[in-house]
Amino acid sequence: MSTPSPGRRTVLRGAALTGAAGFGLTGLTACSGSGSGGRDPRQAVPTAPVDLGPADDVPVGGSRLYRERRLVVSQPTRGDFKAFGAVCTHAGCVLTSVKELEGDCTCHGSRFDTTNGEVLTGPANAPLPEVPIRVEGGRLIAGPGD
Ligand code: FES
Repeated sequence: MSTPSPGRRTVLRGAALTGAAGFGLTGLTACSGSGSGGRDPRQAVPTAPVDLGPADDVPVGGSRLYRERRLVVSQPTRGDFKAFGAVCTHAGCVLTSVKELEGDCTCHGSRFDTTNGEVLTGPANAPLPEVPIRVEGGRLIAGPGD
């Protein structure tokens, strides 16, 4: 008898189940305080591919927040996806909501453009880090390629 090797989907599922381990994160859910002494948002960028689910979950002309993954994804035009780390560059809170093509951090009121990560309203003064994203078999895969 032979043992089947794990397929690509199994590997992706395994990566997804490792959750925060793939991000190198611990305890980034809460704000680390006011001021500019927050955690480095680059720590929120996945280091392995992460399956975010059906691409159809992100509305055309809108955004979706994957708070548990610390990612925000927008689809400004059909089939054009943009992804960013969702850890606020002000003091390390995870974004709390999205509306159309904007992401909000209610810790201190920063707002970000989810098409390019740029700050729309401070106190944050640095953009969200961009994350590679692609569609495979109708599913969004964020993070580096294989
Ligand atoms: S952590 Fe202060 S505005 Fe987001």
